Amino acid sequence: KIIVLDYGSQYNQLIARRIREIGVFSELKSHKITAAEIRELAPKGIILSGGPNSVYAEDAFSIDPEIFELGLPILGICYGMQLMSQKLGGNVEAASEAEYGQAELKLQADSKLFAGTPESQQVLMSHGDKVTAIPEGFHITAVSPNSPYAAVENSDKDFYGIQFHPEVRHSEYGTDILKNFALNICGAKGSWSMANFIDMQIEDIRAKVGDKKVLLGLSGGVDSSVVGVLLQKAIGDQLTSIFVDHGFLRKGEADQVMAMLGGKFGLNIIKVDAQKRFMDKLEGLSDPEQKRKIIGNEFVYVFDDEASKLKDVDFLAQGTLYTDVIESGTDTAQTIKSHHNVGGLPEDMQFQLIEPLNTLFKDEVRALGTQLGMPDEIVWRQPFPGPGLAIRVLGDLTEEKLKTVRESDAILREEIALAGLERDVWQYFTVNTDVRSVGVMGDIRTYDYTIAIRAITSIDGMTADFAKLPWEVLQKISNRIVNEVDHVNRIVYDVTPKPPATVEWQ
Ligand code: XMP
Repeated sequence: KIIVLDYGSQYNQLIARRIREIGVFSELKSHKITAAEIRELAPKGIILSGGPNSVYAEDAFSIDPEIFELGLPILGICYGMQLMSQKLGGNVEAASEAEYGQAELKLQADSKLFAGTPESQQVLMSHGDKVTAIPEGFHITAVSPNSPYAAVENSDKDFYGIQFHPEVRHSEYGTDILKNFALNICGAKGSWSMANFIDMQIEDIRAKVGDKKVLLGLSGGVDSSVVGVLLQKAIGDQLTSIFVDHGFLRKGEADQVMAMLGGKFGLNIIKVDAQKRFMDKLEGLSDPEQKRKIIGNEFVYVFDDEASKLKDVDFLAQGTLYTDVIESGTDTAQTIKSHHNVGGLPEDMQFQLIEPLNTLFKDEVRALGTQLGMPDEIVWRQPFPGPGLAIRVLGDLTEEKLKTVRESDAILREEIALAGLERDVWQYFTVNTDVRSVGVMGDIRTYDYTIAIRAITSIDGMTADFAKLPWEVLQKISNRIVNEVDHVNRIVYDVTPKPPATVEWQ
């Protein structure tokens, strides 16, 4: 594997991604890692990522100098190059002109790093500082209009520095350059794939768990489902899953989870039918935050009630993703934490954690699920909020309004699938707006609810635009909802991006 030391660039996750795409396992590590810790990890090479700061700033992120003595190939990208230059005796200064955007890179000398790429190529530059003198033993291998030291190397030690970002698509031959580094220079095999990731994980899980028992909170979402199937493969009956049906799941969802995960994949699932318990607490409430809080708390109580009936459970499995780990900092040594996916566990429950997805990105989790034989309905499920349909009923929560959302959402999903738009639209659902208006149905006056359709395109849910659904599709959905769902006589389409609106209405 190849490890990437994190200096805070917005692109650092991408570096690990690109290396994995080449077939070499790659992980991001804190820049505080020591040479000894790296030796323990036994990587084939090291990449120093870019970063937003200056290497000569007072609290600049640094590097254990002994890392340069490990005898491993090192590739410094942007800040990483500047840091390496500075630490090995070169010089870095603020550039008179910052260089942002695409630039033409011209190769100056033969280099293993650029093997097979043309003499002139487009690369993405994004830096305010630049190297002004290189350390002894280094020579220039490429220049750009604003960077006389666009690429430098010490071929004897296999130390490479590049001022541009090979990990982004704007660098035309970036992937070739990373491939040259990983496969030719570091000598990694390039045989990493989801299939051997599964074997590796299964071995790890078995070694860690031994003959102990593991508990998993299943939400029906992609991540916890994939964890469940993976653990089932690894430890079979030592796994018990708890699936709380709070009554705000989508139509048919609870049955689907039970049939698929419990039936086809053979998970031992304790299904808790807590619909009444939740509705009793929520009926008539309209404040969105209050609803969310009650649902979150109630979830913990229900989960706790069930978990405490189980004996001798030592481990709690979680569907934590790589992005969650990175967001909480790559420094962290993780211990016990609350179960975010199912709303947080009480603090007095002490488990050791198993997080088999914590080195994977979301799309890799999907690939893993597919590799495990899981169907698209689960693997490609759209995001769904923990509080479920309850936050898609505006105003006071009633069984009647909940039903309008559940039924209209089912129709929407069916029609989006029929139109073949499932993968084009990031998320789509319906909302009971709590607005009632006058309509006419077969000569009879009606005074019923307005359902809003929300369909968005997005990459991560942080920003979003409304999906430009074809009129015919909207027309059919609208027709079907007013005809098939009781107490609905009007449909509106939400055409607001996020920001200023949010994805959900509450
Ligand atoms: P908003 O409404 O904040 O939604 O723009 C962004 C994304 O997050 C989802 N969402 C949630 N997911 N628990 C979750 O697990 C929640 O409480 C929650 N609230 C919103 C939302 O569906 C969208 O994908």
